[in-house]
Amino acid sequence: MPRTLRPVWLAALAAGVLLAMLGALGVLAPRAAAQSTLGQLASAAGGRYFGTAVSNSALTSDTTYTSILGSQFSAVTPENAMKWDTVEPNQGQFDFSGGDQLVSYAKQHNQLVRGHNLVWHSQLPGWVSGLPLNQVQAAMENHITQEVSHYKGSIYAWDVVNEPFNDDGSYRSDVFYQAMGTGYIADALRTAHAADPSAKLYLNDYNIEGTGAKADAMYNLVSSLKAQGVPIDGVGFETHLAIQYGFPTGMQQNLQRFAALGVDVAITELDVRMTLPETSAQDTTQADYYSQVTNACLAVSRCVGITVWEFTDKYSWVPGTFSGQGAADLYDSNYQTKPAYTAVANDLTAAAGGTTAPPTTAPPTTAPPTTAPPTTAPPTTPPGGSGCKASYAVSSDWGSGFTANVTVANTGSADTKSWKVSWSWPGNQAVVNMWNAVYSQSGTAVTATSQSYNADIPPGGSTSFGLQATYSGGNTAPTLTCTAG
Ligand code: G3I
Repeated sequence: MPRTLRPVWLAALAAGVLLAMLGALGVLAPRAAAQSTLGQLASAAGGRYFGTAVSNSALTSDTTYTSILGSQFSAVTPENAMKWDTVEPNQGQFDFSGGDQLVSYAKQHNQLVRGHNLVWHSQLPGWVSGLPLNQVQAAMENHITQEVSHYKGSIYAWDVVNEPFNDDGSYRSDVFYQAMGTGYIADALRTAHAADPSAKLYLNDYNIEGTGAKADAMYNLVSSLKAQGVPIDGVGFETHLAIQYGFPTGMQQNLQRFAALGVDVAITELDVRMTLPETSAQDTTQADYYSQVTNACLAVSRCVGITVWEFTDKYSWVPGTFSGQGAADLYDSNYQTKPAYTAVANDLTAAAGGTTAPPTTAPPTTAPPTTAPPTTAPPTTPPGGSGCKASYAVSSDWGSGFTANVTVANTGSADTKSWKVSWSWPGNQAVVNMWNAVYSQSGTAVTATSQSYNADIPPGGSTSFGLQATYSGGNTAPTLTCTAG
């Protein structure tokens, strides 16, 4: 940090602080939110995904639903279609049609698929719980092997074991626990890993978002699995919240301590219910809860994404389970966004450094850094040159595809008017989607050029864009060339 700052840099800094404050107050963000989808914003905010649970009946019958689903979300989770009672209702008789339908939709829309779930006490067909205990392990291993093999290469992450704990932190005494003790969890993870070594393997549970006995139990389990070398990649925090019960204590710190064990963490089933009728005061509290969850995830680098458990109240599971409660989702039953949607979009925009916000959103009085004349450049800024530098980081890789973030920094002494990043893939990587840049790929050569809203980078500033690509074999990072106009 230089000991003295020239007045003009102080002005630029003040302008930056003012822009950040306006962003935090939501003055800038709503326009960005209107322009970018939740999936794009989450990607720009550290290469994360933003997903939703999907009802297969809505997928096949409701075009408003599918249009929002395809545009807003970068990941999907089948709400019911991959569960045991659907997939293997009778022993050895498999039905993958519902899951296949969603996987196909997700491929067409460049979405990740979270597989949910393989081993769970609920939605378990009667034949499994009725088995003699000495046959349960073979049935479980066969179910996992068949299902994971069927979807091999299509699933980003599996919830391998779902909800293994009671609320007091003791193990749920379901048929798997009765047959194999706690060892069923390691066995399930190893079996899933053998069937698809590239899929991320998760344990998933509710009421582990804040600190407490159940979160401690999960923490101890993950710690012990890691120590034994059992393949576990992540922990899913369902996050079914209710405004009348308060916000979980210490959520960010809790996520962080799990991440410190060397696993990814993800918000897997977020919704925030309320007592009906819905009121605007309750909507405001709900938006605050959504915002707190989003920011807890954004603050933890290994929090890879957020999934909401349905995005519209029209298909929410809540009213059917909690009588007199509902209105838990980002959109109402008529597909109108609620304050919770705006809150999440604003948080993601702020975390993305406002890169999705067009510079024109700054009110004239804020003197954006772009107004600084070239003479304001610090002496250390190299004159001339290409004027920009691009750096590349893979944010997620599931063996057959990946997402990456590219940061474009202005190293010159004047604002950029445009920028272009080009590279040649070392392997057979193929871009399927790019956000916050316009791209073309010919053979292995890719160019990504600025959009109108992020072309202007002030000296010393940066912006970023994201991409999703497929590959087979190696996924070596390319060498990037950046040119600024
Ligand atoms: O498919 C049958 C249909 O044939 C029948 O006519 C109808 C009559 O009730 O039931 C239909 O099955 C329902 C199924 O959803 C599919 O719609 C079940 O009754 C119903 O119980 C089931 O509820 C699901 C619930 O899990 C079951 O535990 C919810 O949709 C689903 O959102 C919910 O999801 C769980 C996660 O998997 C795990 N974490 C908690 C979360 C919320 O409970």
